[in-house]
Amino acid sequence: MKIFLDTANIEQIKEAADWGVLDGVTTNPSLVAMENKKFEELVPKIVALCKGPVSLEVVSTDADGMVAEAEKLMEFGPNVVIKVPMIPEGLKAIRRLAQREIATNCTLVFNATQALLAAKAGATYVSPFIGRLDDAGHFGMELIQQIVAIFDNYAFGTEVLAASLRHPLHVVEAALAGADVATIPWSVLQKIVKHPLTDRGLDQFLKDWAKVPK
Ligand code: G3P
Repeated sequence: MKIFLDTANIEQIKEAADWGVLDGVTTNPSLVAMENKKFEELVPKIVALCKGPVSLEVVSTDADGMVAEAEKLMEFGPNVVIKVPMIPEGLKAIRRLAQREIATNCTLVFNATQALLAAKAGATYVSPFIGRLDDAGHFGMELIQQIVAIFDNYAFGTEVLAASLRHPLHVVEAALAGADVATIPWSVLQKIVKHPLTDRGLDQFLKDWAKVPK
């Protein structure tokens, strides 16, 4: 499973890249707004730090506007993926961009039929939002299982990108369900790298090493 970082924060992206675990980055308008920096100044830094795909989201709600925005966003680099909302105009934009071999990430996917439509339109990735489904009283991870099964049944090339992951078990469950990608917030990446027994074991090893005659 590929690991993308769900952030627009430069320091977080740099740290994950240094760990050697960063396969890509996903952003959205809310994550960009949290950085309080000009988009045109922020994105070149993200694209330079992340060698893998970087999803940048359009904010138009009509296909012509989305495609025009995509053309501008592609100027940031060859690894840019155009993030498009799962609405009828979004499907039109995905189809037009796919015809030009421009990679897309269909976002705000909340059921399997939306994912099926996005795949048929030619999306490179679909992003089901697991945590938000859990918030609404659904078992979000079932959606990943359904989409993976459907895409396997019909050999769609579209990748399943598990999004809105909120805690370590979401990452484990996404991997078990066969998600192609998990996009992980920084807070969750920090949790999955740690285990108290690792820290306790290292502490003991260092204490014992200090007793070895020098
Ligand atoms: O990738 C989508 C993600 O950023 C949404 O996460 O926690 O706002 O539901 P969340």
